[in-house]
Amino acid sequence: MKGIILAGGKGTRLYPNTISVSKQLLPIYDKPLIYYPLSVLLLANIRDILVISSPEAIGGYKHLLGDGSRIGVHIEYAVQEQPRGLAEAFLIGEQFIGGDSVCLVLGDNVFYGQYFSGLLQQAKEQVQESGAAIFGYPVTDPSAFGVVEFDEKHHVISIEEKPAEPKSNYAVPGLYFYNNDVIAIAKNIRPSARGELEITAVNNEYLRRGQLRVTVMGRGMVWLDTGSPKGMHKASGFVKTVQEMQGFYISCIEEIAWRRGFIDDRQLRKLGEELKMTEYGQYLLSLAG
Ligand code: DAU
Repeated sequence: MKGIILAGGKGTRLYPNTISVSKQLLPIYDKPLIYYPLSVLLLANIRDILVISSPEAIGGYKHLLGDGSRIGVHIEYAVQEQPRGLAEAFLIGEQFIGGDSVCLVLGDNVFYGQYFSGLLQQAKEQVQESGAAIFGYPVTDPSAFGVVEFDEKHHVISIEEKPAEPKSNYAVPGLYFYNNDVIAIAKNIRPSARGELEITAVNNEYLRRGQLRVTVMGRGMVWLDTGSPKGMHKASGFVKTVQEMQGFYISCIEEIAWRRGFIDDRQLRKLGEELKMTEYGQYLLSLAG
């Protein structure tokens, strides 16, 4: 399975922070925002990764992550000229995806939870069995998201994008698993009223085909919004609090790469040495032993 991180957009809700810096390069406490979605792909054992961003911002991601070899993965880059919608990722990434299945994660979504790796593994299996796997997450204000409607037997009836009157409290987080049909599906959808190729249109096509699986993320999972200065501040506070309490870092890409066996002790120690002036680097060194 291939992985795509969509890290474009104009970040207008965070202006002036994002006038000259791409949103997904801004820090969530001690690491750039894009480390969080990147860590999702690593946890899912996905090592072929495409980062998509705007023409102005793509250089910053190349500088930060390079070809990925430092953490034992392969990273490529592609440009999205304009934010024409999430589903455009599959058109831009067509060659990269080739004949494979694909996981798309939005560059501004933060996930954390004990059973997360299991959920990711399950989603990969569901793609093989059915075609598509997404999640539902209970939120207090679903109207800002894609929203899943379930019947009383928990079958999915509909998915609506930013409905004025949401039919449930279950938002669809920015984490999507699809088989290779997604390319053809994305080619066939038309821009919505707001002029975007909506990921919700892709999900609805899989639903129409009877191939969409939706798993509800329970209370043990954290999904954080980083769409506003308040959201970013809250997410930073959460990461700081958990890291200080437990001593385990959240979404430390070097640690996950090491635990997954993508890099060995020696490589981890080298990465730690380079950052040893920071607590982050000291953490890597403490793991490498
Ligand atoms: O975060 C989950 C939600 O993401 C889903 O519940 C919605 O169904 C989905 O449409 C999306 O809603 P948003 O309103 O959050 O999407 P937004 O336009 O803010 O884009 C999400 C991220 O993707 C953002 O960091 C910018 C980036 N992006 C967005 C678009 C439309 C791109 O890189 N390219 C794009 O064309």
